[in-house]
Amino acid sequence: MKKSTFRLSETDYETIQRYFLDNFALILPSDITDQKLSRIELLCRDERIEGPLNLLTTNTRNDVTRGLSKLISIFTINHTDFFREQLHFDFFTSEVLPNITSDTPSIIDNDIRIWSAASSTGEEPYSILMAMIDFFGDDYWKLNAGVLATDIDKEALSKGINGIFRHSKVKKLSRKKISKFFSRLNDREYLIDERLRKEILFRWLNLNVTKFPMKNNFHVIFCRNVLQYFPIDIRGQIVQKLSNCLLKNGYLFLGISETYIMEQHDLRRVGPAIYQKMN
Ligand SMILES: C[S@@+](CC[C@H](N)C(=O)[O-])C[C@H]1O[C@@H](n2cnc3c(N)ncnc32)[C@H](O)[C@@H]1O
Repeated sequence: MKKSTFRLSETDYETIQRYFLDNFALILPSDITDQKLSRIELLCRDERIEGPLNLLTTNTRNDVTRGLSKLISIFTINHTDFFREQLHFDFFTSEVLPNITSDTPSIIDNDIRIWSAASSTGEEPYSILMAMIDFFGDDYWKLNAGVLATDIDKEALSKGINGIFRHSKVKKLSRKKISKFFSRLNDREYLIDERLRKEILFRWLNLNVTKFPMKNNFHVIFCRNVLQYFPIDIRGQIVQKLSNCLLKNGYLFLGISETYIMEQHDLRRVGPAIYQKMN
């Protein structure tokens, strides 16, 4: 890539860092790379603005403008994979799904509410869904279930909505899963089955808000590999808000490297970075 000649003053970058911290709880790196500078330069040209500070608007609670949303995409880290941290999916099918469906007399009485918070490009919510379909078999389609997938990065959300994934990612799945859930588009890409795409509701949501807007609580929340980018005090506040959104005995999955002391949030550890709501 051509080295960018675009420059951002130290004070302007500090203003962006402060803005991302205050609004999204994101700690940006102390130095900005040339690649990011080139992307910001392009963005300013596309938006016909003099500099990125013009994009920093105030309403970040419910949504963001197109320009700001593109700036967010430049700074977010979207690394993810299908069935990332496989042992979480083993626990999900061996413990969580049997437990949350054990009290209902018939399969159709099950209303299963699952939230993938910080879902990035969709591999996590689609993995949850594939695990559920494999677990319930054809009965899955009789359930009142589905997955809510949220993120602050709209480009990542669009990728999830489109459901097109690179061969290099899909090839890590078993052949059985690939033939059951994907069709091949070309040498490089696969498309996830339309039936699965319809089961996931992708929405923009900032985790750093005072209260989450959901009306009903969840059986399971996955909020993995995002808290590590936030300041420690904010991590605790977000875990408390996530805990408030869980049903009694519901489960919270964090990233494997993100283990915290949870008793203060009414959560008890039941597996590696897996917590259950006590009250
Ligand atoms: C490393 S990815 C994790 C993806 C997935 N959960 C996983 O474990 O594979 C982190 C995601 O968190 C999102 N994110 C960062 N700050 C956020 C915030 N304040 N609210 C919601 N999502 C945020 C980023 O856009 C990114 O897609």
